Amino acid sequence: MRRVAILISGGGSNMEALVRDMQAGGHADPVLVVSNVPAAGGLVRAAALGVPTACVDHRAFPTREAFESALAAALAPAAPDILCLAGFMRILTAGFVRRWQGRMLNIHPSLLPKYPGLHTHERALAAGDAEAGCTVHLVTPELDSGPVLGQGRVPVRPGDTPPTLAARVLEMEHRLYPAVLRRFVAGERAPLLLP
Ligand code: GRF
Repeated sequence: MRRVAILISGGGSNMEALVRDMQAGGHADPVLVVSNVPAAGGLVRAAALGVPTACVDHRAFPTREAFESALAAALAPAAPDILCLAGFMRILTAGFVRRWQGRMLNIHPSLLPKYPGLHTHERALAAGDAEAGCTVHLVTPELDSGPVLGQGRVPVRPGDTPPTLAARVLEMEHRLYPAVLRRFVAGERAPLLLP
């Protein structure tokens, strides 16, 4: 069975959605959750779900490369086949990405190629977009730019603020990411479009 490690930096709600879906569907095995932030709430959530956890604090390393070498060492014993970045807020070097290219997925809270990078909801609202959403893509060395595996659209509503839009998008993320991982594990690569 395909072994999936999930990288987080924060609350881990996407991690939880992925883990619960794997535990329910049996299509893949969540073997490890790794955070670069020791206080990440997602570490507690992962442990509560019975998933082994590790923490590699990026602040403890002088360079990105040193951090990534420690990250690789933390991942190795779990022998993951697939990495899912889920609210993981570190930019990975091209070297690390190349070692995992084709087997590393990320979820981004916008309809890429619109709004790569940060503050996506603020930007969608400022642009007056009628809709927003999220994208799951394969990770390539260029930030937020790899082949799209799935997108979920949500309406922008009058009076929306970044937090209200983020909450609506997050709900869609929790639907999209597990569904995309199921298809990915099954070898499907055609983009999934939700709703
Ligand atoms: C989500 O908006 C996700 O798209 C972004 O990080 C945010 C928090 O995700 N990458 P989570 O609750 O930690 O999964």
